[in-house]
Amino acid sequence: MRKKAILITGASGEIGQALITSLSQMSPMPILTLDLHPVPQEFMSLCNHISGDILDHNLLARLVTEYDFEMIFHLAALLSTRSEFSPELAHQVNVDGTLALLQVAAEQSQRRGKPVRFIFPSSIAAYGMPNLATKERDRSVKEWQWNNPTTMYGCNKLYCEQLGIYYSKHYQQLSANKPVMLDFRSLRFPGLISAFTMPSGGTTDYGPEMLHAAAKGERYACFVREDSVLPFMAMPDAVTALLQLSAAPVESLNHLIYNVTSFSISASDFRDHVLRAFPQAQITFDPDWQRQGIVDSWPAELNDEAARRDWGWAPAYNLQRAFDEYLVPNIHRRYHR
Ligand code: NAD
Ligand code: SER
Repeated sequence: MRKKAILITGASGEIGQALITSLSQMSPMPILTLDLHPVPQEFMSLCNHISGDILDHNLLARLVTEYDFEMIFHLAALLSTRSEFSPELAHQVNVDGTLALLQVAAEQSQRRGKPVRFIFPSSIAAYGMPNLATKERDRSVKEWQWNNPTTMYGCNKLYCEQLGIYYSKHYQQLSANKPVMLDFRSLRFPGLISAFTMPSGGTTDYGPEMLHAAAKGERYACFVREDSVLPFMAMPDAVTALLQLSAAPVESLNHLIYNVTSFSISASDFRDHVLRAFPQAQITFDPDWQRQGIVDSWPAELNDEAARRDWGWAPAYNLQRAFDEYLVPNIHRRYHR
């Protein structure tokens, strides 16, 4: 008899760690986690962890025979900057890996006669603004606008969204018996900021890096121009969004891809907020023109009206609350215990 479980891939990463904590508090179902790396010690008792590669087909085949997945949070990926350094590897992990997980979900949906819910975090990287004038003019983009990514990571995300739609609506469309399809849902996240973990390999990393460096009393040279604007969100809101979307009744969803966001802010305003909390911080700007190009191609704001309307999305942390009630107190405690 297969064991019922919720699967989280990429669980040792930033979102994964935050998600394990929340999910284990609200769901009695066992959590199986899969990542190249072990989950940190404090999460060990909350999940059953497998250290492994999502590209290992033998491992996935074994999981399919052992488990009955009610839901899959597929978080494993290479982020945007890292993907530009190894685009072919990024394609393997981000696309082939997602395809393999979609196949697991499709097979299990069919076998148990009930859709496996498949939650996929996409990104602002799915957009590509052609120039700064357009980024300024079309400030708040809707899901279907400017889908012209300029990064391998963005191309991977956009394509995997489409793969998810294919697997949930059109898979095996020519077979005589219509299969039970999986239930795919995706969120396009802005840059995420956690008080408890540090990002690596992303292009929105300058926000969290600036803040954590200030708390540690380290100098920070920001790799984008002061006037660079991007949307951001505090990590607890990202987890809330994943859980809310995963729990939304299927009839309420008019789309399978939803923008979610909280606040948009320039790098210089970000610095000012950091300085208010850590007045001794030493923050300079030393733009890396290649990473700057990626940031300039991402929209200044995400329009998340559809998520608000369809499944009641609303971030708990606006800019002020994110800094005052979540980021600053927790980061301060983390480095000044
Ligand atoms: P992260 O880099 O912290 O975590 C990703 C995890 O995936 C890592 O623990 C890594 O070891 C694991 N992984 C990579 N390749 C793997 C493989 N082949 N097999 C198994 N595990 C593998 O990233 P995160 O911030 O936690 O992001 C999680 C997801 O959310 C990703 O899909 C990312 O694209 C998406 N996302 C993140 C942000 C953000 O700002 N953090 C924004 C938008 C979307
Ligand atoms: N934060 C992510 C990155 O910069 C966006 O998906 O790669």
